[in-house]
Amino acid sequence: VEADRMRVSVIGTGYLGATTAACLAEMGFEVLGLDVDKAKIDTLRAGSVPFYEPGLDELLERNLQAGRLGFTTSFAEAAAFADLHLICVGTPQQEGSGAADLRYVNSAVDQLAPHLTRPSVVVGRSTVPVGTAATLAARLAALAPVGEEAELGWSPEFLREGFGVEDTLHPNRIVLGTDSPRVEKAVRSLWQQQIDEGVPFLLTDLQTAELVKVAANAFLATKISFINAMAEVSEVAGADVIQLAEALSYDDRIGGKFLGPGLGFGGGCLPKDIRAFMARADELGVEPALSFLREVDAINQRRRARTIDIARQLIGGNFAGSTVAVLGAAFKPNSDDIRDSPALDVAATIASLGARVTVYDPQALERARQEHPELNYADSMLAAAAGADVVLLLTEWQEFREANPEALGEVVADKRIVDGRNALDPTFWRSAGWTYRALGRQ
Ligand code: UGA
Repeated sequence: VEADRMRVSVIGTGYLGATTAACLAEMGFEVLGLDVDKAKIDTLRAGSVPFYEPGLDELLERNLQAGRLGFTTSFAEAAAFADLHLICVGTPQQEGSGAADLRYVNSAVDQLAPHLTRPSVVVGRSTVPVGTAATLAARLAALAPVGEEAELGWSPEFLREGFGVEDTLHPNRIVLGTDSPRVEKAVRSLWQQQIDEGVPFLLTDLQTAELVKVAANAFLATKISFINAMAEVSEVAGADVIQLAEALSYDDRIGGKFLGPGLGFGGGCLPKDIRAFMARADELGVEPALSFLREVDAINQRRRARTIDIARQLIGGNFAGSTVAVLGAAFKPNSDDIRDSPALDVAATIASLGARVTVYDPQALERARQEHPELNYADSMLAAAAGADVVLLLTEWQEFREANPEALGEVVADKRIVDGRNALDPTFWRSAGWTYRALGRQ
């Protein structure tokens, strides 16, 4: 099949799948997105993105109109349509063990396979425990009418929410686990433009490809927790973690990215991926190799407790009967994702301690309201801060970075702020009369 004629199905139209589908259509492929959630498919068909991702709505609309992009709930239709199937379903965390829940990847293969009556390539992009792909490959061949001619490879994605379009169109590497020339050829044609632009293409076995993804996320989580551990030490030793991080960053072996101290990591990926990775290491009998990730997780959780302590201290030692403003609900800026959001976790804990908590977020209010009906919500930063005993900045949206301390000072009784993301200039805020506290600094 010629590259520009290749038809692709994208199974699962959540954050990863919808972004992938729209980007591949933008690159010129004919794409069919599939989801078992009819409501999601109807929304996408109507040209709207069911979550907030900068730039994605435009891409979706343009490619729907151009007729290069369609959506369905039918596996039979996807099988008839495409030569290449990309599995982009979620692998959430299981209660208890922390292991990855593979029901959606398993079900994608089980539902697609019986319709594969001609040679087909299936490539997984979801984050899975090492060893999953080999099992799925066997399952695919066993269930498909074409048997061994239904081949499976693994090609993990590395998209960041908020930069999904950019990261898909301009990835920093493409990794493919397969030993099949046919799978390799299909995936190379998919990313030919990127490969021509110099993006490295790494061909590996299935296990290595699966591991690259979890190893990358484990490394990123470790880097964040490392600097947050330094913040803990700095707080008691009288040092300044921001200056420390800056000084470390000039060593290009260390680098400055993901070295931002603060409330720590959350979201649908980093926390669950390190837990699933530990659970998998356990199953493989190499638990000690990853036991440091338990510390990474613990350091991350302690930052939330520390943020709450600082706020409590600031208002005199007790939350009962107090009024608290929380700026930020999304797990990070430029996203409306609240999965394992450090901001909402802190807000909910403070509310459970007896404070009246009012939250504002530029994009995630709707989702936050559904998940945490016990909190109060305001539709602006000033409205959230009105009358607050303390203001907590917990997600570093640009709007908060640019907040005017004078204007905010006019709506509060006592000017107290906890900068949970080290996003503000302490000197600027202090000179406007605020008691400013941050993590890792004096
Ligand atoms: C992460 C990875 O960065 C992506 O490469 C990966 O593809 C994705 O998970 C995934 O597995 O699908 P994402 O969850 O969108 O992407 O968010 P990040 O930008 O990595 O941020 C994660 C968390 O770390 C956020 O809560 C952020 O506030 C926090 N963080 C980040 C810090 O606390 N400090 C930093 O210096 C950087």
